[in-house]
Amino acid sequence: MNHRTAPPRRRAAWVAGAVAVATALAGGVAMSTSAQAAGDTLQEAAADQGRYFGTAIAGYKLQESAYETIANREFDMITAENEMKLDATEPQQGQFNFSAGDQIANWATQNGKRLRGHTLAWHSQQPGWMQNMEGSQLRQAMLNHVTEVASHYRGQIYAWDVVNEAFADGGTGARRDSNLQRTGNDWIEAAFRAARAADPNAKLCYNDYNIDNWSWAKTQAAYNLVRDFKERGVPIDCIGLQSHFNSGSPYPSNYRTTLQSFADLGVDVQITELDIEGSGQQQADTYRKVVEDCLAVSRCEGITVWGVRDSDSWRSQGTPLLFDGNGNKKEAYHAVLDALNGGTSTPDPTEDPTEDPTEDPTFPAGDCSADLRIVNSWQGGYQGEVAVTAGSSAISGWSVALSGGISVSQVWNGTLSGSTVSNVSWNGNLGAGQSTSFGFIGNGSPPSAGSLACGS
Ligand code: XIL
Repeated sequence: MNHRTAPPRRRAAWVAGAVAVATALAGGVAMSTSAQAAGDTLQEAAADQGRYFGTAIAGYKLQESAYETIANREFDMITAENEMKLDATEPQQGQFNFSAGDQIANWATQNGKRLRGHTLAWHSQQPGWMQNMEGSQLRQAMLNHVTEVASHYRGQIYAWDVVNEAFADGGTGARRDSNLQRTGNDWIEAAFRAARAADPNAKLCYNDYNIDNWSWAKTQAAYNLVRDFKERGVPIDCIGLQSHFNSGSPYPSNYRTTLQSFADLGVDVQITELDIEGSGQQQADTYRKVVEDCLAVSRCEGITVWGVRDSDSWRSQGTPLLFDGNGNKKEAYHAVLDALNGGTSTPDPTEDPTEDPTEDPTFPAGDCSADLRIVNSWQGGYQGEVAVTAGSSAISGWSVALSGGISVSQVWNGTLSGSTVSNVSWNGNLGAGQSTSFGFIGNGSPPSAGSLACGS
């Protein structure tokens, strides 16, 4: 089982103390007298803790150098966001297509990264032919799919999400109804057995969302599945917690209990699709807690975030990732890096927040109008969207005053200065009557929707 315990890559250890330095210098090794070095990237900092730090990759984006650069620099575990799913790999029954999956696998190999396989059996993203199947025909087709795909990638996959999302949401703890479930309750173990036979060296995970909160029925259902498999000797090596956090599924304060409880069943724990909607300090704090919880559980092997930049996210509106759309490191990134480094690294020096509480600027009326709507709100914050519309003449730039006690922690498609948001390079030119919009995350409770002062 050679893929199970790849040792973390170690960077040069830094040693404190004159004796150690002298010894090391005698050996010709460049040393520093500072304490243990902090990792400079997520993968380095995680490796120093014996963990991995991964991301989902969309294969077609690897052509984009800004994307590829961040992905390669920061992450050492790769999951194909869509390319190894059922519809991608078996578009016609019995005709397998691994070109998109292989592209990602090859990129990972060439860059020294490990791969998580996602996913062999799932009710969603099934090819059309499978969606229309039921019963023993479907069971057979599913097992054939597991066997063929796991065999194709044999030796390349660190861990497979063998079965994804098999439990229902809500308070019942029941299985999710699906064509796969209707083939019989034992479809999950059948899939795991087929996967083990096809790739004995890959770790086999059960993966799901909303299994983070220890007191939720769905969490208990997944826990009981793992316990049952371990008791009966059904092959299972790991639990994958997707951990998509937002106002409806918030980070739970008992998350660490959940991670530890699964680990205590004798499986590894992987956080497989982490994203946390929000922004600023609040988002950063939650990311930090997730990292701290993982580090506190020795069998929590690593964390994968579900995308590189906010703009790459499947929930881009919620800005849930570690890099903004321009590839800049967000506060959340620094919190994660710091937590991986044991909470000891110094944050980047930032400018003093010299926000002079200026008067709301007044603009000549008539050039443009700005209308605020509240997209979403949660305890302590909200997301606003402002539509900017040119008046009867074309304009080549605009500014909107966020008045009425709006306190903003993040703006996109606009530039914030004080309490004024101006256009970015590509949305300043508006023909007469034409509109564009920008978005922001506000602190506190949302103001009522309505118009704001706009000038050009
Ligand atoms: C998402 C992808 O991010 C999207 O690009 C795609 O359109 C839908 O699937 N749980 C999972 C992932 O296991 O496969 C999903 O990925 C997100 C939720």
